[in-house]
Amino acid sequence: MKNIVILGASGSIGLQTLDVITRHPDKFRCVGLSVKSRVDAISDFLNSNSGLVVCVEKSSDAKNYSIAFTQHRFVWGEDGLIEVATLKEADTVVNALVGFVGCKPTLAAIEAKKDIALANKETLVAAGKIVMAAVKRNGVSLMPIDSEHSAIVQCLSTHNKSIKRLILTASGGSFRDKKRSELNGVTLSDALNHPNWSMGAKITIDSATMMNKGLEVIEARWLFDMPFDQIDVIMHRQSIVHSMVEFEDRAVIAQLGTPDMRIPIQYALSHPNRLALDLPSLDLVKAQSLTFEPVDFERFPLLKCAYLAGKREDNRAAALNGANEEAVSAFLRGKIAFVDIDTFVAEAFESMSYSELNTLEDAIAADQMGRAWIKKKILGGNV
Ligand SMILES: NC(=O)c1ccc[n+]([C@@H]2O[C@H](COP(=O)([O-])OP(=O)(O)OC[C@H]3O[C@@H](n4cnc5c(N)ncnc54)[C@H](OP(=O)(O)O)[C@@H]3O)[C@@H](O)[C@H]2O)c1
Repeated sequence: MKNIVILGASGSIGLQTLDVITRHPDKFRCVGLSVKSRVDAISDFLNSNSGLVVCVEKSSDAKNYSIAFTQHRFVWGEDGLIEVATLKEADTVVNALVGFVGCKPTLAAIEAKKDIALANKETLVAAGKIVMAAVKRNGVSLMPIDSEHSAIVQCLSTHNKSIKRLILTASGGSFRDKKRSELNGVTLSDALNHPNWSMGAKITIDSATMMNKGLEVIEARWLFDMPFDQIDVIMHRQSIVHSMVEFEDRAVIAQLGTPDMRIPIQYALSHPNRLALDLPSLDLVKAQSLTFEPVDFERFPLLKCAYLAGKREDNRAAALNGANEEAVSAFLRGKIAFVDIDTFVAEAFESMSYSELNTLEDAIAADQMGRAWIKKKILGGNV
C-alpha cells in the first residue's frame, strides 16, 4: 500500500489521479490533498473518505470547510501546502499544481524523503538544477507524469545507454493549422479548444503557443541529463506516439497509447510495475495514419526561446517561465490578445538581464523579474 498526497487535486491531472487511486484501493491510499479554492470539485472524494489533511489557499475557506467536512483536517496557505507535501505518513507526492507555485512544495517533499510524481513541469523549468540535486542528495525517485517524459522513461526502461537523441512529439495545439497572420482576433474559447487533449487552461494555452513543448524540452534536459542538441521536437498531430528515443545504432524505440493522462499518471505511481487500467485499447486501424512533420520555429517563437534559455543554464529559464505565466494569465483574464502572449514573452526574453542560478531564492527572483516585465508591459509602462 502506497500512501499518496495530491497537490492540485481539483485540477485536470489531480482529478485523474484521484480516479486512478480510486480504481486501486488495494494499492494506493490518499492521505492528503490540496486545492486552491475548488473544494467542490473533490467533495465526493472527501465525503467517501476520512482522516485526510486538506490544504486550501485561504484561512477563511479552511475554517468554513472544517465545519462542512468534520472528518478531515484543513490547513491553508503556503505553510499548509508544505505541511501536506511533507506529511509523515506519505510515501509519494503527486505534484499536479500549475505554475511556479509548485516549486517550493516539491523541494520540501524531496527534503522530507518523499518520492515525487511530477506533472508540475514549471518546477523543473525554473529550478531543475536545484531540484535534481535535491533528488540525488535525498535518494528519492522523481517520476514524470507528462506523457512525453513518461514515454521516454518507458523507452529507456530496457536500455538506457548509447542514446543518440530524445524525440519529443508535439500535437501543435489549437492553432496548428493557422499561420501567424491568421491569429489576430482568435478568441479564448478557440484557444482552449485543443484537438486531442482535455487539460487545464494554462497548459492548453501553452500548447497553442508551443511554449508547452519548450517547457518540456527543458524538463527533459533535467530529467534525463541530456544536452539540448540531443533533444528534438517533431509535430505529430494524432498524439498517439508519445515520444521516442533514438540509440547510437540508429534503432528507435517509441511508446504509443491513446491520449489519456491516466496512463502516465498510473505508471508514475506503479513504476516499475504495471497495473491493469480499464480503458479502451489503442485502435491503430481506426487511427489509420500516424503523421510526422518538422516544427516551424519562426511560427512558434517561444519554442525557440525555451531552447535558448535552457542552454544557458542560468536564471533565464525561470525568468522566461515567469514571464509566460504572467502573459497567459493576462490572456485568460481578457487583458491581452492571444498574439500578444508570444510577442510580449519573446520581447521580455530579449530584454531582461540574467545572472547565475544556484538557489531557490535565485529562481524566485528570476520568476518575479519575468512577471514584473510583463505586468509593466501590459500597463503600458516603459520596460
Ligand atoms: N492537464 C494535463 O493533461 C497535463 C498533462 C501534462 C502535464 N500537465 C501539467 O500538470 C500541471 C497541472 O496541470 P492541470 O492541467 O491539471 O492544471 P489545472 O487543471 O489548472 O489544475 C491546477 C491545480 O492547481 C491548483 N492551483 C492553482 N493555482 C494554485 C495556487 N496559486 N496555489 C495553490 N494551488 C493552486 C488548482 O486549484 P483550484 O482548482 O482550486 O483552482 C488545481 O487544483 C501543469 O504543470 C501542467 O503543465 C498537465
